[in-house]
Amino acid sequence: MNISIINYIAVVTAVVSQLACHKSDRLVEDNVENARVQLSSLLALSEEGDTLRIPSTFKAGEVEFVPEDDWVSGFFAGTLWYMYELTADEMWADHARVHTEKLDSIQYLTWHHDVGFMVFDSFGNGLRIKNIPEYRDKILTTAHSLSTRFRTGAGVLQSWNVDRGWQAERGWKCPVIIDNMMNLEILFNATRMSGDSTFFKIAVSHADRTLENHFRPDASSYHVVDYDPETGEVLHRCTAQGYADESAWARGQAWALYGFATAYSYTGFERYLEQSEKVAAYIIGRLPEDGVPYWDFDAPDIPDTYRDASSAAIMASAFYHLYSITGTIQYRQTADKMLSSLSSPAYRAEPGTNGGFILMHSVGSLPHGSNIDVPLNYADYYFLEALIRRSKLK
Ligand code: GLY
Repeated sequence: MNISIINYIAVVTAVVSQLACHKSDRLVEDNVENARVQLSSLLALSEEGDTLRIPSTFKAGEVEFVPEDDWVSGFFAGTLWYMYELTADEMWADHARVHTEKLDSIQYLTWHHDVGFMVFDSFGNGLRIKNIPEYRDKILTTAHSLSTRFRTGAGVLQSWNVDRGWQAERGWKCPVIIDNMMNLEILFNATRMSGDSTFFKIAVSHADRTLENHFRPDASSYHVVDYDPETGEVLHRCTAQGYADESAWARGQAWALYGFATAYSYTGFERYLEQSEKVAAYIIGRLPEDGVPYWDFDAPDIPDTYRDASSAAIMASAFYHLYSITGTIQYRQTADKMLSSLSSPAYRAEPGTNGGFILMHSVGSLPHGSNIDVPLNYADYYFLEALIRRSKLK
């Protein structure tokens, strides 16, 4: 054989193996198949009879549903959009649309900050994936509603009201939780859509105050920072859902990792990428062997306490995003390990079990005794998102 034939064969072999690699990712394919079975049954239950219900978790043999104004209400619609993105099966888009439009009233909700999650995961994905033009107005109206929570003196969006519920008992004035970083994406998009820079400025101010006040020297995040809304003075740094004020609640670290990487994507501000990478280093340094965190990195009873699959799913998605920004292979390896563990029988439910949810073993709020070691709709949402982000890398 002459050299040019050998070179030709080498090139063809490389191209064929690259194509094979591109086409087939067994982990993604296997998970999509599993999700198809699980979510079909959950979807049928959610649309049983005349009502349209929003599944949130599965406990004591029963699927639980939430009202539209619950912070988790957008994840099921978002999950259906992701199934459409993963399968190109129009059936998923049809149902995603119905479940999205059930949330129409949320664009006007002003009594908590989570409208970013609720409307961007549902209408936002519908606009991005299916380009449904009327969803733009829902997103803009939601951005206006969220902006009413901006406290100019402190430069932050107030997360929770303090006049009712358990929050009223904590003595806070203007609590901001690290989770709130996730509500900024809708504001960045609202500026892109409308040209009105107000939303962008609010989001940047909030992210800057969070960067300044929410982190310890080791880059772990407090859950709650309470501000004086007039002066911006920090009044308290504490927790609501973590083990202790000074502990690192796992999902809080996930929101910080994801939220600052997203803020970097929309602004190009290096300080946000640096913060996300600092949080990444903290998380990677403290993960257990299988990459799925315990519900709080400082829970005193580790290893005899609960894992939180939702944190792993959020982190996996964020690590793929960080890898796509930086090319740092460790981020991709960490995400791969998390997905591989979450896809194993230790965390992924057998088809026909778990009420139709994909993942088991998440923790909502242990201090509140709420949703402990159960499936959660946002764990499934970010799990599918991580699969999509992994697919797009290939
Ligand atoms: N945003 C509420 C939570 O992560 O539980």
